[in-house]
Amino acid sequence: MIRNAQKILNQVNPLLRNQVRTVTLSSSNLSADQAPKHEIKNVTIIGGGLMGGGIAQVAAQNDFNVTIVDAEDEYLQKCMVVIKKSLDRITKKKFPNERKGSAKFVEETLGKIKTNTEVEVAVANADLVIEAITENMDSKHKLFKAVDSAAPEACLFASNTSSLPITEISEATTRKSKFGGLHFFNPVPMMKLVEVIRTDETSNETFDALYQFSKDLGKVPVMCRDTPGFIVNRLLVPYMMEAMRMVERGDASAEDIDVAMKLGAGYPMGPFELADYVGLDTTKFIIDGWHKKFPEMELFTPNDTLNKLVVDGKFGRKSGEGFYKYGSTK
Ligand code: 3HC
Repeated sequence: MIRNAQKILNQVNPLLRNQVRTVTLSSSNLSADQAPKHEIKNVTIIGGGLMGGGIAQVAAQNDFNVTIVDAEDEYLQKCMVVIKKSLDRITKKKFPNERKGSAKFVEETLGKIKTNTEVEVAVANADLVIEAITENMDSKHKLFKAVDSAAPEACLFASNTSSLPITEISEATTRKSKFGGLHFFNPVPMMKLVEVIRTDETSNETFDALYQFSKDLGKVPVMCRDTPGFIVNRLLVPYMMEAMRMVERGDASAEDIDVAMKLGAGYPMGPFELADYVGLDTTKFIIDGWHKKFPEMELFTPNDTLNKLVVDGKFGRKSGEGFYKYGSTK
């Protein structure tokens, strides 16, 4: 299949030839004798929000020693409550008739997670630091500067950014070769995919270690270059924006578009349900950022309906209302 895809791409644009070949060769399915040299055991996750908490949970479930960092104890406690709830949901299925096994699994997983409000302390023994804080380049730079000076020399860094360039984030550090992207999907405990992003500076050893780490979490890694939105968001966000434009043009209702994409394309959620699930503020942030950087790209045009909902504080599920209204947000 890959060979065929490459043949077609070569006909379209011969310049792509080498890129596709590079991607094919370096998204290595590692065999035992090619195992990465960098061993990851201690993982520090910075940001205890939905994504950071989800990544921490999955890492702890798979036997990594995890430290979650956030600015306030209160956020960390909230994060642990969300993790506990999610683990309870998972154990219901994993141990349907076994209360003891279920309790043990939850207890052992939670026992693998520490929390800390001090970044420098939390990264002191880390083999891998994953950043999952708000999508602001200045904040990320400030954070990675501090992390860079406190983490062991061999420690690898990754960002879970949805839309900012990994290369630019890595510029705050002195170890660009040890820097890559690990992009997870919401809800992290359920979504099998991890996009592993390599910049021009990411070393093979770093890439292989991040790729293997994703596999060790029970996920399926795919490789992507450091391009806007990587694979999934690059396709998903313009798709959601076009759905909004369809409603604005009067082509169909949001409800019917959602039904159509679920039953006609087999998607688990339609574009409006998904936008509410991802968060309309997040979706707006992504599209506005891309539009600013690439104003000539029609696919990245901001949308009035989305802008108004966000201005009105309607962020989707998390705020109780977006394109749809929701019951309790707890
Ligand atoms: N933790 C543990 N289990 C969970 C969970 C969580 N956070 N969320 C859902 N589940 C599990 C539960 O086991 C639940 O079973 P339960 O009834 O025993 O609790 C099961 O999933 C089904 O969940 P629901 O009945 O609540 O609803 P669904 O059947 O619709 O499944 C879904 C929920 C998995 C979210 C599914 O609708 C889905 O796959 N939606 C698409 C999500 C998606 O596309 N995510 C990617 C967004 S893009 C992104 O994240 C990138 C970022 O950069 C913006």
